[in-house]
Amino acid sequence: MPSARETLSGSIVPVVVLDDAGVAPDLVAALAAGGIDTVELTLRTPAGLDAIRSVAGSSSVIGAGTVLTVRQVEEVADAGAAFVVSPGFDDEVVQRSLELGLTVLPGIATPTELQRALKTGLRDVKLFPADRLGGLDMIRALSGPFPGVGFMPSGGVSPANARDYLGHPSVFAISGSWMVQRDLIARGDFDEIARLSAEAVALLAGAEA
Ligand code: 3PG
Repeated sequence: MPSARETLSGSIVPVVVLDDAGVAPDLVAALAAGGIDTVELTLRTPAGLDAIRSVAGSSSVIGAGTVLTVRQVEEVADAGAAFVVSPGFDDEVVQRSLELGLTVLPGIATPTELQRALKTGLRDVKLFPADRLGGLDMIRALSGPFPGVGFMPSGGVSPANARDYLGHPSVFAISGSWMVQRDLIARGDFDEIARLSAEAVALLAGAEA
């Protein structure tokens, strides 16, 4: 299966919490209209799994977020998710994802957790919660002893710091919720979601150069 940096290279990964699975197609379309074609639909609400199922065949890359258990890995695989993201590191979640051919991106917050992730054969992780851990300074510190590791920071990523994050050579993608705020989704303001997405894509254009 492709590594996270292959699946998500250069991506802005919106972290989505849906109360109504029925809005998933419009939401994914709005993100795509703004230039964001990778979406993490979380299992934080009961709607998450149905939402994944309803858009898994779309032209966007659909992943599952907040995956905490082996059973959830199996459910999102069945629903058609292409990748799995977790807030923390769980060996069984990683192993089952790999067995099912899913790209998997566990969260880590310490060097010890990162070493555990490397032991599974992974080379890419999510840094969570990135802002609370020191942000770019933490990525710089970890990149010393772990030069080959790719990071996707998540937590507190915003238009104010996204470009700096993605400009770091060890950062292959960024993750955040600022363009998919729950109130925007609740009131069906898909134009604003598309606008914020386009703004983010424009902001990041050239950041990797
Ligand atoms: C989350 O926990 O929801 C993600 O890490 C996104 O965090 P954010 O809402 O700070 O962007």
